Amino acid sequence: MKVNQAEFVISAVGPGQYPQDALPEIALAGRSNVGKSSLINRMIARKNLARTSSQPGKTQTLNYYRINADLYFVDLPGYGYAKVSKSERERWGKFIESYLLNREPLHLVLLLVDLRHPPTKDDQAMYDWLAHHDIPLCVVATKADKLSRSQLPKHAKIVRETLGMPKGQPLILFSSEAGLGKEELWALIEQASGLAQADTAEEETAAAAAEEPASREPS
Ligand code: GTP
Ligand code: MG
Repeated sequence: MKVNQAEFVISAVGPGQYPQDALPEIALAGRSNVGKSSLINRMIARKNLARTSSQPGKTQTLNYYRINADLYFVDLPGYGYAKVSKSERERWGKFIESYLLNREPLHLVLLLVDLRHPPTKDDQAMYDWLAHHDIPLCVVATKADKLSRSQLPKHAKIVRETLGMPKGQPLILFSSEAGLGKEELWALIEQASGLAQADTAEEETAAAAAEEPASREPS
């Protein structure tokens, strides 16, 4: 995917503020501090368009980023941040839940987990909830650069087993620092948003046109 243009659109606090143009939406879910905003920045090759912070719990709204005229990344508030009050947590839980269940342009949820550690109880609950509601999801294991290459398979296996991922389901090992997994993730996103087919269809039409056989020329 070639990113020609990426821009922040809105920090939405409710459905009234969601974009109306029905572009496919790719949402990022995961614990506070797992690397959601950093992943967006890496995918679009921008240092700090999506605001990152060493202070967890910073993102408290649905932050929309438009990529070309193709799709939106929707940066969701992180869960599992202990310093947020219980009532606030519940309010945000309902807000996100209703977005994930009812948002029509939502094509894919990227569930981010930290590759260094086994998925937490919150990660497991989120995974089960998404799977239970048949919401298309892809697990992305972040901060892979903090492990050595030889450690990756073992950690990937722990993520798969702890979440109970079915065999064929993709698990993307990702690093916002090093760029690992970027192309693989773009391919998946393009497929989920119907962009891959559009490209292929266009290419096929172009190829067919180029191959117009000489025999078709008027004799
Ligand atoms: P909230 O907005 O609080 O939910 O957090 P977030 O999930 O958006 O995390 P964010 O992208 O802000 O990253 C949190 C911290 O982790 C920052 O200090 C990042 O620099 C760091 N970080 C994120 N991804 C990676 C990665 O792939 N590798 C390394 N080494 N650090 C990362
Ligand atoms: Mg963030």
